[in-house]
Amino acid sequence: MARAMNDRSRLLSEEALTKYRIELLVKGTVVIAPQTLFTQDDLARIDQLQMEIPEEEVRMGDAGDSHNVFVKRVRVDPPGRPPSNVDGKAPGQIIELLQRKDRSLALKKILGASSDYVIRRCQMHRLPPGSFVGIHLDAESDPDFEYSVIVQLARDFEGGEFVVYPNAYEQQVFRPPFGAVVVTTCRIRHEVKPVHAGERRSLVYFCSKRSGVNRRIIESTADGL
Ligand SMILES: [Fe+2]
Repeated sequence: MARAMNDRSRLLSEEALTKYRIELLVKGTVVIAPQTLFTQDDLARIDQLQMEIPEEEVRMGDAGDSHNVFVKRVRVDPPGRPPSNVDGKAPGQIIELLQRKDRSLALKKILGASSDYVIRRCQMHRLPPGSFVGIHLDAESDPDFEYSVIVQLARDFEGGEFVVYPNAYEQQVFRPPFGAVVVTTCRIRHEVKPVHAGERRSLVYFCSKRSGVNRRIIESTADGL
């Protein structure tokens, strides 16, 4: 009983969830306040688990976009195959943490879903000074990506703004604080500006109502990607 009360106190009211839902619908992007979807304990646990995952440097995104970022893969979604967790204990434990019932329910309300969302892909990003993520469209990696959820894991860095381009004339600049969660539709182009000082770290996961194979078609293999 006491536990149920604690869980409930952490959850957002229907009213607050609806406000986030409307903002996401209208703008295509919304910033969920720190301590809402993830507690300090959740963030510390993610930080602890990610240490066990190997890191790779990515200079070119899989959709041909320009990147310069360090990536730890948690769950992968290769074209023509269904998504799967990366081998090892930590990836499965991170996915389990992300999918906990109270968090999934709150997120489902913000995404306005009638059916459950699945996590198709999940990874950690680390951007030291000079790193950036070039303008890209998440849906180019998997046409079934609907929303990306970005958990901010760093406190002290400069630059690294998250910029979305809803149309040719408009841009929205976000500087979400530590613990905040950015939710954005995968059908809007966006980028991460170069980091100037400190280190920007985040956990990103891509949600979809489809759980089958990645239906992305690779047009050309001429460049070997
Ligand atoms: Fe992205």
